[in-house]
Amino acid sequence: MATRIKQLVGHIAPPIDMATPELWQEVPLAPPDSIFKLTAAYKADTYPKKVNLGVGAYRDDDSKPWVLPVVKKATEKLLRNEALDHEYLPILGLPEYTAAAAKLILGSDSPALSESRAVSAQTISGTGANHLGALFLTKFYRFNGAKKVYLSNPTWANHHAIFRNVGIEPVDYPYYNPDTISLDLTGLIGSLQEAPPRSVFLLHACAHNPTGVDPTEEEWDTIANVMLEKNHYAFFDCAYQGFASGDLDKDAWAVRHFVQKGVPLLVCQSFAKNAGLYGERVGALHIVSPDKDTADRVRSQLSVLQRSEISNPPSHGARLVELILNDPEMFAEWKQDIKTMSGRIISMRKELHRLLTQVHNTPGNWDHILNQIGMFSFTGLNAEQSKAMIERAHVYMTGNGRISMAGLNSHNIEYFAESLDKVVRGTL
Ligand SMILES: Cc1ncc(COP(=O)(O)O)c(C=O)c1O
Repeated sequence: MATRIKQLVGHIAPPIDMATPELWQEVPLAPPDSIFKLTAAYKADTYPKKVNLGVGAYRDDDSKPWVLPVVKKATEKLLRNEALDHEYLPILGLPEYTAAAAKLILGSDSPALSESRAVSAQTISGTGANHLGALFLTKFYRFNGAKKVYLSNPTWANHHAIFRNVGIEPVDYPYYNPDTISLDLTGLIGSLQEAPPRSVFLLHACAHNPTGVDPTEEEWDTIANVMLEKNHYAFFDCAYQGFASGDLDKDAWAVRHFVQKGVPLLVCQSFAKNAGLYGERVGALHIVSPDKDTADRVRSQLSVLQRSEISNPPSHGARLVELILNDPEMFAEWKQDIKTMSGRIISMRKELHRLLTQVHNTPGNWDHILNQIGMFSFTGLNAEQSKAMIERAHVYMTGNGRISMAGLNSHNIEYFAESLDKVVRGTL
């Protein structure tokens, strides 16, 4: 009997061998996230003229986070609604939100919507949409033997990790030409042509992070044609709709054009930047299928994946965005707020270009500062110069020469231009 109990107990809780370390004691220390590390270093810096150009969040002219007036209005309206409770949302999210979000990115006249071919899931912001999309690929995308997902080189730092987390080792495709500080269209088209048929290409729908370099409409069309020829799949990441041009429809052009042309695709959408809802984690994944029947099956499988990942998404941010998108007055006001943010960024681009070219006569061509789009700009500074900007000028930027234009304002832009000029001349 004693032996029997020992056997059972032993089975339930095997004795720990004190000589061997517990599993977690062998976990290696991971390096800190580079952007969060940069922010911590900026915060610890006591230099009065320090500038933070690392973080990808909008700041107003006083370097402060900006709560959009329309978001304040929507919040007040929500608070007054006594019918609201804290029940779970459906697995794929708040239906009024996902339907409006799909219209916003695909266009209200989209054939994918009128033919009921688009399936939408509310996600944990854009990151969650990327994750759910990547997970979906691992389960249901026929990779044709070679599992290939292509990411632009460079890309948002988190893309590689998101795909690796679900067991996909992504491959880079050329995107940016450092010599011309512009799009490497030849390299990109070459990659599309060389990739095995039915590969997945992750494309930034607008305001490419980190380069700020987007294809023109003509270039997008060329890309779409090669993707159709090769039966590739477009994995659109759209984290900045409205932020690039100030116009929500214009920034959705590439996605809508691909849908019109029949390129198979999915879209990851985020309301972090364009609604200033960073911490609310409001996003969506939209998968466009060839027909309604496929879409229904896709929806059923997305529900299964979502259920095991997060069960159901959070409600507050989705309710705010749903109010803004579905109320014509608030929608109009939101568009104005977007113009305020994108307009300030565009004015910073113009001013920086003016200071470099007309005040300092900084060596080199600085037209890319004007031509690039969205929150980020690739200055063209190399790793050594970027490091010098942090260490000697207290200007915090990433090692690849990327700056967030939203970190510039009327108080710090002259100091930044002066520091940039010095680092280029080697006198910093
Ligand atoms: C290209 C890109 N995709 C996705 C995201 C995800 O943002 P979030 O999860 O905050 O919506 C970001 C954020 O910086 C981004 O730059």
